[in-house]
Amino acid sequence: MDVYKDQSQSYEKRCADLLQRMTLEEKVGQMMQLPANFDNNMDKLESMNIGSYLHCTGDMMRELQTRAEKTRLGIPLIFGIDAIHGHCFDNRATVFPTQLGVSCSWNRDLIREMGAVTAREVRANGIHWTFSPVLCVGRDARWGRVDETFGEDPWLIGEMAAEMVEGYQGKEGFANWEKILACGKHYAAYGEADGGRDAYEADVSRRNMLTYFLPPFEKIVKDGCATLMAGYQAINGEPCSASRWLLRDQAKESWDLDGFIVTDWDNIGSLHTKQKVAEDLKEAAYIAVTAGNDMIMTTPSFYKHTIELVKEGRLDESMINDSVRRILMAKFRLGLFDEYRHTSPEREAAALGREDHWEAAAQASRESLVLLKNEGILPLKPGAVKTITLVGANADDVVAQLGDWSFGSMQAGASDDSFHRDVTVTLLAGLKERAEREGITVNFVKGADPLDENLDECDQAAAAAREADLTVACVGDTLKLHGEFHDRANLDLTGKQQKLLEAVKAAGTPLCVVLLASKPLTVPWIKENADALVCAFNPGAKAGEGIAEVLFGDLNPMGKLTISFPHHAGQIPVHYNRFSGWHSMNDPAMPGEERYIDMPEEPLFVFGEGMGFSPFSYADLKVSKSVLQQGEDLEVSVSVKNEGDYDGWEIVQLYINDQFSSLTTPVKELRGFKRVYIRSGETVTVDLTLPFEELSLINADLQRVVEPGRFDIMVGASSRDEDLLKTVIRVE
Ligand code: NOJ
Repeated sequence: MDVYKDQSQSYEKRCADLLQRMTLEEKVGQMMQLPANFDNNMDKLESMNIGSYLHCTGDMMRELQTRAEKTRLGIPLIFGIDAIHGHCFDNRATVFPTQLGVSCSWNRDLIREMGAVTAREVRANGIHWTFSPVLCVGRDARWGRVDETFGEDPWLIGEMAAEMVEGYQGKEGFANWEKILACGKHYAAYGEADGGRDAYEADVSRRNMLTYFLPPFEKIVKDGCATLMAGYQAINGEPCSASRWLLRDQAKESWDLDGFIVTDWDNIGSLHTKQKVAEDLKEAAYIAVTAGNDMIMTTPSFYKHTIELVKEGRLDESMINDSVRRILMAKFRLGLFDEYRHTSPEREAAALGREDHWEAAAQASRESLVLLKNEGILPLKPGAVKTITLVGANADDVVAQLGDWSFGSMQAGASDDSFHRDVTVTLLAGLKERAEREGITVNFVKGADPLDENLDECDQAAAAAREADLTVACVGDTLKLHGEFHDRANLDLTGKQQKLLEAVKAAGTPLCVVLLASKPLTVPWIKENADALVCAFNPGAKAGEGIAEVLFGDLNPMGKLTISFPHHAGQIPVHYNRFSGWHSMNDPAMPGEERYIDMPEEPLFVFGEGMGFSPFSYADLKVSKSVLQQGEDLEVSVSVKNEGDYDGWEIVQLYINDQFSSLTTPVKELRGFKRVYIRSGETVTVDLTLPFEELSLINADLQRVVEPGRFDIMVGASSRDEDLLKTVIRVE
C-alpha cells in the first residue's frame, strides 16, 4: 500500500510520502482556493488541481469531493466557509448573536460552546474550516465590520478568540465529526484602516502592532489555531499579504504556526490591480510565495504564474513544498484521507439545528443583552401595564436581528429575509407571546424604518403610544448599513427613526428603547430621554424571547459593553484605553477641561458598562503583595455585594496602569475579569490572578519588558474611574 494511504503510519510520514509523489502542477494546485459558485470554477478542479473551495455546500460540495477522489492521487478537498456566528449560510443551522453581541456576555464558556456548536454543524455538513474568529480591534464604529469583532480591547479579544478557537478545534484533534479548523483573521490591524474605511491603508507603528494588534493572534497561534487569514489592507505601505515580517517572521517563525496562512479574497491579484506593489500578476505571485502565503484565495492567475516562476528558477520549490506540506498536514489531521472524507445526509440532518444547539444559541442571545439605562421602569410591575405599543421596523426584521454573515449578506447570494425566518423570534413575536400570557395587549406600529427615508408613521405611532402604558421603541441599523463595503461617516439613526422616538416620547408614556444594531450608534438623545435602554447587538435568532424576558423580569440582564459608544462620529476614536496626553483632562491647571471644545472627553457609554436589576457594591480591594519581584504573579481580591432584590451575574473587571514608564502607556488596560453569580443580599469574595507578564509594555527597542516602578491595580464594575477601587503596587 502507498505509504500516504496507510493509516498505520504517522501523518508526517504519510504527508512526506505524498509530497514526493506530486508534480509541481499538483503542488501549486493545492495552494489554490476558488469559490465554487461562479466563473465555472468547479470545472477547474482537475485542470488546475484545485486543493480547496470556499462557499460551497450541498450537492456542489458532494460532487467536488467525489471528483477529487478520482484524481491521480485522490487528494481530498478542504472546504472553507464563513460560519461566523453559527453555520448561518445553511438555512437549517443554528444562528448565534454576532461576535460583538456575544462578546458582551463576557462568558468564556458560552463563547467556547458557540464555537463547538458551529463546528459540529459545519463538519456534519461536509465542510472543514471556518474563517473565524475575527481578531480585529473594534475601535472605529464607522467601520462597516465592527459587528464582527469582540469589541475594542485587544486583551479581551485574545481571551475570547482563544475560547472560540477551542470550541471550533477542540484539544483532541480534528479527525472526527465534531471539529473544524479555525482561522484567525484578519491578520493584522485590518480594523485600523484609516477613518473606518474598509480595507483602506492602516498607519500602525511597529510598536503598536506589537502592543495591540499582534498579541491576540500570538495567543491563538500558540494555543494551536490551525490557520490565519491575511488582511486586505496595507500597513505603512506594505500589504499584509506582501509582508514577510507578518507572515514568516512573526507567525511562522516567532510563534511557530503549526498550520497555514490563507489570503483574503484576491489579495494576490490586488497586489497588482489595487495596491499596485506588483507590476503584473506574475510579480504578485512571486511576492505571495516569498512573503509566506500558503493558500491563495480567489486569484486564478496564481496557478500558471507560480509554475512558471519555479520553472524559470526564480522561485525555489522548497517554498512551495513548505506551503503544500502545511495544507496537506491539515487534510491528514482532519482525517480527510481516511474515514472522514464524505459526510452523509443522515449526519447532516441529525446535527443541524439540534435542540441543544438552539438552547445554547438562545442562552447566548440572553447573555448578549446589555441594559444601559433604567429609570425604574424595568422590570414591568405586575398588573401595572395593560397595553404596550411597540414601534420601529427592527422589532420585526430578521435581517436586522441576525446581522451580517447570515442570509441577506452578499456572500450568501440571497437578499430577502425568508431564510431563518421560521426559527427567528423577533421582538414583536417574543414580546407578544410573553405579554399575552399576562393578558397584556401589544400594538405594533412600524413607524419608521432604518432603510426607508419615506416611511413616516410617526403620528400613528404617537397616537398608539398615548393609548399605551408602555412604549417599546426598537431602533438601530440593518444590513445595508454595515458590513463589507458599508462603512459610515455618520452614525446617527437613519430614516425617520429619530423623529419616531421624539414623537412617541412626546406622547408622555414611559419609553423603553431597544437598540437593535450591528454596533454603537450615536444616540445621545436616547441616553437623555429614554426611561430604559436595552442594547442588543445583532442578538441572534431567539433574541425576541430574551428581550421580552428582560422587560418582564424573568431575566436579570447581565451583559456589559465591550465597546464604547461615541457621542458623535467626530469623537472617534473613543476607546477606554486612551492616553493621558499633554493637555490632560486631569491637569490641575485646566480644571474641567475637555480635549474637544464641543464634545465631552468621555464616551456616551463606556467599555465595561452595563447593569442588571440589582446594584452591586465593591469593597475591600486587597493584593497579595505590595512589592513584586520580577516574575511574581499578583493575587487580587475584592468583595462584591448584591444590594438589590434580584439574584444576578456581575462581571468583575481588573485594570492596570503603569504609572511611570519609559514610553507612554494608556491610562488603564484590562488585564482580567471574572463573572460571578451573587444572590440578593449576598457578598462574595472574588479572586483574580494577575500574571506578571500582564504588567509588560513594548519598549523603544521593541522588546516586551516589565519595567520597575509603581502600578495602579483597579477593580470594579466598568472602565469608568468612579466604578473602580484602586490600590498601588511596586515592581522591583
Ligand atoms: C472577504 C472577507 O474579508 C473575509 O472575512 C472572508 O472570510 C472572505 N472574504 C471569504 O468570504
